[in-house]
Amino acid sequence: MPPEPGAAYAPSAVPPLHERPAFQALRTHFEKVRELHLKDLFQQDPGRGAQLTAEALGFYLDYSKNRVTAETMDLLARLAEESGLAERVAAMFGGERINVSEQRPVLHVALRASRDSQILVDGRNVVPEVHRVLDQMAEFASRVRDGSWLGQTGRRIRNVINIGIGGSDLGPMMAYEALRDYASPDLTLRFISNIDASDFVEATRGLDPGETLFVVCSKSWHTLETLTNATTARDWLLAGLGGERQAIARHFVAVSTNQEGVAEFGIDTANMFPFWDWVGGRYSYDSAIGLSLMIAIGPERFREMLAGFRAMDEHFRMTPLAKNLPALLALLAVWYDNFFAAETVAVLPYDHYLSRFPAYLQQLEMESNGKHVDLQGRPVDHQTGPIIWGQPGTNGQHAFYQLIHQGTKLIPCDFIGFCEPLHPLGRHHDLLMANLLAQTEALAFGRSAEELRAAGVPEWQIPHRVCEGNRPTTTILIDRLTPESLGKLVALYEHKTFVEGVIWGIDSFDQWGVELGKLLADRITPELEAKLDPSLKHDSSTNELIRRYRRLR
Ligand code: F6P
Repeated sequence: MPPEPGAAYAPSAVPPLHERPAFQALRTHFEKVRELHLKDLFQQDPGRGAQLTAEALGFYLDYSKNRVTAETMDLLARLAEESGLAERVAAMFGGERINVSEQRPVLHVALRASRDSQILVDGRNVVPEVHRVLDQMAEFASRVRDGSWLGQTGRRIRNVINIGIGGSDLGPMMAYEALRDYASPDLTLRFISNIDASDFVEATRGLDPGETLFVVCSKSWHTLETLTNATTARDWLLAGLGGERQAIARHFVAVSTNQEGVAEFGIDTANMFPFWDWVGGRYSYDSAIGLSLMIAIGPERFREMLAGFRAMDEHFRMTPLAKNLPALLALLAVWYDNFFAAETVAVLPYDHYLSRFPAYLQQLEMESNGKHVDLQGRPVDHQTGPIIWGQPGTNGQHAFYQLIHQGTKLIPCDFIGFCEPLHPLGRHHDLLMANLLAQTEALAFGRSAEELRAAGVPEWQIPHRVCEGNRPTTTILIDRLTPESLGKLVALYEHKTFVEGVIWGIDSFDQWGVELGKLLADRITPELEAKLDPSLKHDSSTNELIRRYRRLR
């Protein structure tokens, strides 16, 4: 929809990154500090480990094992100010259309606003509508949980399957894994996202259609994977229940912004949970997209999670940069990305429940900040978002950490740990946390040839065993993994992503790049399915691949 007259957002002019005075000062500063070793920085300042930290909302952020000095952090904060951060934060929370390429407001913060607050979009307060949907979700989730929502054959729902992809899958899936310990043991929750039928087959294997509810999530209701899987699910259900079409109303609910599309698919719009175009897919799991999660953990826990998001939103909006947790993470990211030219960042949660968190962050950060033009559409003259990757510790230690310790690449790492275990079983938690701490120590300080010699290592082996150290890490210690702290953690990274985008001068809220592949797939599909050999007009590689596939399919 075109913006209303006068509603288009035009941020105050900010010079390109390289021309901002703080960026130029950082360049000079970088030449002074780039060779400094963390070992020396810690020796020179014994208070460093306590000083280069920030604490809020039960989160302790230790950034002292980064290759920065107090001056670096001051200059980076100045860079954020010169990038117009304060104005952009106010614009986001104020409902302005800061997603300039789609001319939409960006209001995931409204999804967790308290009932009595007011956030205006084109002069209308959207908060009452957010709470109306939350109440609708709570009512429905409670009925599924207490068994009063019955399937077509009169049996209660035991299995919930979320169908969606990207933001309509990764968010609820990550959060469900994270909060499994809080989930109802009476319900099985599964996820189908991939167009590959194996995903569908495995997710439905062994389930009784009469006890299964599908939650179909698609913001646009145009996504090929989701609509194909939902259609297969409908066939599976009807085949299992004797073809009675009225069963759809008992076994399918939809979460979307597209009411017409949902109705056309055959889902009763009374069973539709809406959200709004001002919620980006990757910022949406605290909207109705979180319905399957709410069914699993219950409305009360879901609201606790929203309270966590809200607390981090307030912290982000109100706290000066020097103590602002999301901003600090973003400043460090910019430092490594634009000065050290680090290509990737590893996110390493030391909690098995967060095993899908890196995958979730990949979409959040890479879809948001994988951009090559600025807000005005001019090519940027600097690097933007890094590659995000990771796995839970300690597993990753026995797989890829070697490259972080002794490889030739600089890979800044975020280590995330919880002080209180959810399962105080034997020595497990102390051992887990000892490993987290040991890794950050080893990466920072390494092991020198002298230390190895003193330990009696033979001379010929020493070069192989030296760990140079000076590998930067940030440690985030959180009290305990709860719905509330998960909300805070996700909001922490959402706002980090936003601050990075502001400094890079890009639109963090569109994703035009993924459209091209979708368009081309639509062209290729009929060529794969055609009975007679189609005349192919692709490049010679694609043409050959299509021919081979057609021969062997
Ligand atoms: O692949 C791009 C994308 O548009 C994501 O941004 C989004 O989360 C996902 O597809 C799913 O979209 P939808 O919720 O509209 O089905």
